[in-house]
Amino acid sequence: MAKGKRWHDDDRFWRVIAPVLFPPERWESAPEEVAKVLRLLEAREGEAVLDLACGPGRHALELARRGFRVTAVDRTAAYLEEAERRAREKNLSLELVREDMRTFRRPEAFHRAINLYTSFGYFEEAADDERVLRNVYDSLQPGGTFAMHLMAKEVLARIFQKRLWREVDGHLILEEGTIKDGWRWIETRWIVLKEEKVEEFKISHRLYSAAELVDLLLRCGFAAASPYGNFDGGAYDETADRLVVVARKE
Ligand SMILES: C[S@@+](CC[C@H](N)C(=O)[O-])C[C@H]1O[C@@H](n2cnc3c(N)ncnc32)[C@H](O)[C@@H]1O
Repeated sequence: MAKGKRWHDDDRFWRVIAPVLFPPERWESAPEEVAKVLRLLEAREGEAVLDLACGPGRHALELARRGFRVTAVDRTAAYLEEAERRAREKNLSLELVREDMRTFRRPEAFHRAINLYTSFGYFEEAADDERVLRNVYDSLQPGGTFAMHLMAKEVLARIFQKRLWREVDGHLILEEGTIKDGWRWIETRWIVLKEEKVEEFKISHRLYSAAELVDLLLRCGFAAASPYGNFDGGAYDETADRLVVVARKE
């Protein structure tokens, strides 16, 4: 990685980790996630939807298949190329934009927006997270809704394991997590082993509690923001498996 570059700006990280992040079962679960998110967003047929940090398009392609007008934004060219290839194979149409979520902003262009699978909290400066949410707010039409889905502080505190290993699609992944700065951050050391090859990365996320994220969304202009414990709209309580927040612009 070039000096001064952060893990989330490193193409090599996203390339090596792709099979681990997006194995076949993650693609298989995406259509059901989309169906549920659309319900939470109160989306209507044919609306314009922004998928911010879309990756290789798990959700964006399903949205396009359902007839939504989709704009999918990501910083990683290889992921957008994969989304484009899959769209071509399935004869789907969507707009793919290579841009940083800190700068992507299209005033009042979308009815709905999504940011899924812990694609938030990457930046060292808290002001950058705030900028991302203000960009989304500005990009929504009045009455527009925005769904976020991430690993939040409360859930992590409940399931945290210092070290764990798992196997995904022929890769062995060793993870070591360290909570930092009084639970503001988690730093995770990932060792990825594939056949004879070993790759190591250190990634870090800013951690949000549900209340912190709700307050931030309200500060960024949203009129309301509600936390849920899953895509079904279940309570964000001690049984939550992730944090899903749905925010509404007035
Ligand atoms: C965990 S993946 C999630 C992808 C997708 N939302 C999904 O559910 O499959 C996080 C994504 O964030 C993208 N990303 C990281 N930093 C970004 C930035 N500054 N601007 C836009 N996208 C970014 C990565 O390229 C990656 O595709």
